[in-house]
Amino acid sequence: MSEAISAELYGQAWPCSGVAVNSRGTVYESRCAIAAVDQMLTGKSIALAGFYFLRRRETVTMLKISDVCVRRLARELGTPLQIFDQAAIEKQLSTAQENFRSEMFDTEVAYATKAFGCGAMYKIVNDAGAYLDVVSGGEMYGAHKAGMDMDRVFFHGNSKTEEEIEQALELGCGTIVLDNIGEAEKLVRISDKMEKGIDVVLRINPGIEAHTHEYVITANIDSKFGISVKKTSDIHRVMSIVDDGRFLNFKGFHMHIGSQITDPDSFGKAIETMSAFADDICERSGYAAEFISLGGGFGIKYTESDKPVPLGEMARYSIKKCEEVFGKAKVRPKRLCIEPGRSVVGEAGVSVYKVGYLKDTETLHYAFVDGGMSDNIRPALYGSEYTCAIVNKENDEPKRHYCIAGKNCESADIIIHDAFLPELHEGDYLIVYATGAYGYSMASNYNKCGRPPVVFVKDGEARLVIKRETYEDMTTLETDERIEL
Ligand code: LLP
Repeated sequence: MSEAISAELYGQAWPCSGVAVNSRGTVYESRCAIAAVDQMLTGKSIALAGFYFLRRRETVTMLKISDVCVRRLARELGTPLQIFDQAAIEKQLSTAQENFRSEMFDTEVAYATKAFGCGAMYKIVNDAGAYLDVVSGGEMYGAHKAGMDMDRVFFHGNSKTEEEIEQALELGCGTIVLDNIGEAEKLVRISDKMEKGIDVVLRINPGIEAHTHEYVITANIDSKFGISVKKTSDIHRVMSIVDDGRFLNFKGFHMHIGSQITDPDSFGKAIETMSAFADDICERSGYAAEFISLGGGFGIKYTESDKPVPLGEMARYSIKKCEEVFGKAKVRPKRLCIEPGRSVVGEAGVSVYKVGYLKDTETLHYAFVDGGMSDNIRPALYGSEYTCAIVNKENDEPKRHYCIAGKNCESADIIIHDAFLPELHEGDYLIVYATGAYGYSMASNYNKCGRPPVVFVKDGEARLVIKRETYEDMTTLETDERIEL
């Protein structure tokens, strides 16, 4: 996603004038060579060189994402900062759509907005003709506000409130994915009262162990999500409750076995279980599911040790497996869906921090940055690992092992425990890769650290899509009102 372009630096040993020339041949001149490079990187006040004396020549690199200079963005907007490569997001989405295709079924790709959602993101999803998975009234509201075609929205969640169900019916969400019997009862009551309809899908738990972090497994036997395939009477109960709804259409089943899954076998097993389940339900009740969603969970590369199967291959594997399995089964659904979240935005996003201080303990070299668990809680919550580099020094020789620590008041606030980097200096910018999924969306304002701004870059242009959360923003909800009871 990023590209380091080299520039040649000409300067005099005696620092009274300097010139930097970038790879496109643009010349930047200043009082000294270093200042000239700085001008080139920041694009500020450029004066063409007249005459200069060439003394030394070295290569500097300029880290760019989609032709936008990272350091320049960091200087302009401050840090911490989140940057997304828009073309990379669009590419991932279309890769999923192109590879999850079949002659046998209609196919849909629903982006799971929990990975990262905002107006600009919903527009990308809508324009791609993709579907959207939301799990709360807030996500639904944002999607509607951004102009998302609500017919293409799946409303998920295991604890939908009455207000959220009303909102889904009011805004015309295409499908609601029920989790339990109580939700089914509530939905029938509300939809009958509002006289508004919606397609209904039930989340089942296929009981497949996906090999991933225990906090992101969702299909173990005691999972809070869905109804176990073994509890057929509960499943029948949901179907008959929905059947009684005057405005509801029961369409089929959904599953999601976990997240950051790198082994296609788990999906294969889940598809086999789902198909056997669909056949069994059909045998018992005569109901043939016309829609099945396989969920999301496709893994991405955070560090060298992650070996994910690329999204396109996973999507192709899944559809081929569906053709093979459902092709032989009694029940062959008309429509199939996958719900990638992380694999669409994860590697497309980076975080940029500024190094504030360096401190050595008995055994560690700490580098303290100006963000932390308030903008990325994943290392503290799941022990997630990331890689990083010093902006514009990505190709320099690594010299030291640093522990990159955040500014939040918590010992667990370590972004990277062991980053092998060139010599770090206060004021250096640090880029942490693959923070696009579940970074911003799980950010908080713990310690009243405002959430970072988010920038989308594409074809050399940068757009601010979420502003930095200011101190004022963080106090706007505070009030002192007497409550009349
Ligand atoms: N569909 C459903 C029903 C889900 O529950 C999820 C994720 C997805 C799709 C998208 O999964 P993905 O493709 O992004 O793996 N906060 C955790 C991840 C929690 C995932 C929750 N559900 C993390 O940071 O790793």
